[in-house]
Amino acid sequence: MAESSTSTGWDCVNTIASVLTEIELPVMAGLIHVDTDVQRLREMSGLVTPMALRVAVTLGLPDRLRDEPATAAEIAPELEADPVALDLLLAHLTVLGVTERTAAGYRTTDFGALLGADAGNGLHGFLHQDSPAGRADLAFADLLHSVRTGEAAYEARYGQGFWADLAERPDLRGAFDRQMNRRMAAWIPQLVAAVDWSRFGTLVDVGGGNGRTLAAILQANPGMRGHLVDLAETVEGAAEMFRERGLDAEVTGGSFFDPLPAGDTYLLVDVLHNWDDERAHEILARCALGTRVLVVESLGESTEFDLVMLVHFGGRDRGLHDLERMAASHGLTLESVTQVSGRSLLEFTR
Ligand SMILES: C[S@@+](CC[C@H](N)C(=O)[O-])C[C@H]1O[C@@H](n2cnc3c(N)ncnc32)[C@H](O)[C@@H]1O
Repeated sequence: MAESSTSTGWDCVNTIASVLTEIELPVMAGLIHVDTDVQRLREMSGLVTPMALRVAVTLGLPDRLRDEPATAAEIAPELEADPVALDLLLAHLTVLGVTERTAAGYRTTDFGALLGADAGNGLHGFLHQDSPAGRADLAFADLLHSVRTGEAAYEARYGQGFWADLAERPDLRGAFDRQMNRRMAAWIPQLVAAVDWSRFGTLVDVGGGNGRTLAAILQANPGMRGHLVDLAETVEGAAEMFRERGLDAEVTGGSFFDPLPAGDTYLLVDVLHNWDDERAHEILARCALGTRVLVVESLGESTEFDLVMLVHFGGRDRGLHDLERMAASHGLTLESVTQVSGRSLLEFTR
């Protein structure tokens, strides 16, 4: 009797289990709540909305529909778009609140206007598919390649690395340098104030872009000399800028994988995280000829940024101990760490 009732009980359990899907079991166990967690994962992993926003910016829709509403059919020819497909895009942008429907067609909302070219918040440059960052982000479709190989998906997608690509595209190179300058403008004053730069004789800014950071440091410390090193297309115009400001600085248009000009202090701002370990070591080895090396980086505080460095460059942000270990193998000892606007300034001595 007992045996038969047990057997009936298990039959019942097995029947229930067989009709439960993989999702329903954890739901019953209270591990997943379908309406929130599953939905949240779907939203996190969906590619539709991020791409719709990027295409909207690339087509210039937020600006085109800002003042004057229009239908998809009306603006399709000037945007070189298919009217039906454009209407599908606008309908989704309307669901997102980027555009709204009016009697005269779609119009950009105040929210959507934040995506405009002149909104001044950096979003347009970040999302536009022909901007350096927006173009590079498209390589995230090949994140799997980066995770499998540890290499930049950018190169797999575009056939050459980020810097080589920029060298062939002056429009991208110019846009990247302007983007770097904009981001630096906000925190150059803190960087200048964070260190007693007057201790140094000749400061070599390695991968120093078009020289705005070095100029600000030299301007605040008139006794110092500077030397800017970056790729030829980026340093173009830097010598003239230094001269106009009456600053004692030389300029070398070349690679930091070649021997660097002489100096007692070498500065690397946001450079090492663009490179894999082997290349980062090569750069550090070049800089370690000086008495001091200053490294300014964010120390792996953003997992998202780490993946961006991987996909764009095959690089990554390194933590304090990683950088300390790397530098030590070139005879450099960490002397101090100073916080500067969300980044850390590491001062190494030899
Ligand atoms: C992320 S940016 C940082 C620029 C600048 N230090 C700043 O913080 O604004 C990296 C810089 O490294 C430069 N770079 C890349 N490869 C280089 C190379 N082989 N030799 C010299 N500079 C290079 C780029 O041109 C770019 O200006």
